[in-house]
Amino acid sequence: IPNGFKKSRLKIAHTHRQLPQCLIIGVKKGGTRALLNYLNIHPDVVTASDEIHFFDRNENYNQGFDAYRHEMPFSFKGQITIEKTPAYFTSPKAPKRVFRMNNSMKLLLVVRDPVERTISDYAQVAEGKRMKNKPWELFEDKVIDRKTGQVDKTYSGIQRSIYIRHFIRWLEYFQLSQFHFIDGDNLVRNPYKEVVDVETYLRLDPRIKVENFIFNKTKGFYCVKIDEKEKCLSDSKGRKHPDVDPNVYQKLQHFFHPYNERFFHRIGRRFNWS
Ligand code: A3P
Repeated sequence: IPNGFKKSRLKIAHTHRQLPQCLIIGVKKGGTRALLNYLNIHPDVVTASDEIHFFDRNENYNQGFDAYRHEMPFSFKGQITIEKTPAYFTSPKAPKRVFRMNNSMKLLLVVRDPVERTISDYAQVAEGKRMKNKPWELFEDKVIDRKTGQVDKTYSGIQRSIYIRHFIRWLEYFQLSQFHFIDGDNLVRNPYKEVVDVETYLRLDPRIKVENFIFNKTKGFYCVKIDEKEKCLSDSKGRKHPDVDPNVYQKLQHFFHPYNERFFHRIGRRFNWS
């Protein structure tokens, strides 16, 4: 593979755009960008840099698979193309559409403690509103219905964290063996371990090394190191979370508990969520 090929995204001899054989389908705020960047270290992996939103948006899907292929980077035969759009996981239409395109698609799902995911989701939206000088509600007012004192199930941040609800829709089309789960909390602490597991799942040669991960104290996260160059994710990844009222935090934990249990049962694996 010519030097810099993956970076330049130019068409060179013997390369072509291929439909992805593997998708990172979610979860939003799970660490999907970090995972995609880590996998991109591998010489046999090419990644679509943007979220394409092909399977979740009608206007994109209606353009057809060839239009989707055109959004993919050039690759050599044998390389795997990976696209990530976390909105796929919660999109009711996405599972059937993905299946129609490729029923042997490999599906990567980064999951994270749903309470933390909800806070992260809120922090992203709140930051967007703050930047536009728009009013934004406190986290507690978003997640708790003040009339009933119960968790507000209608809030999209909560909806997206009820993993089992979305996951069963994917199981209508795909076998459990077509999924690989990444522990998003561990992806922050020990990315090498999580990424090696993905390498194994995708049957890639072991080419990603522990030296490729450098903990950056200023950023507070691991960054990628290749050829003596270090690259961290942007400041929009790894935001400060608001302090959450401990009673509300506990209410959320109780709320998600039964859904988490059903999810663990369905996937045959547990995660250490409080
Ligand atoms: P926070 O912003 O809540 O900390 P996504 O890319 O799916 O939107 O996920 C964003 C999350 O990725 C961040 O959530 C952060 O915790 C996590 N993450 C994992 N590894 C990271 C890394 N190396 N750099 C920055 N964020 C990382």
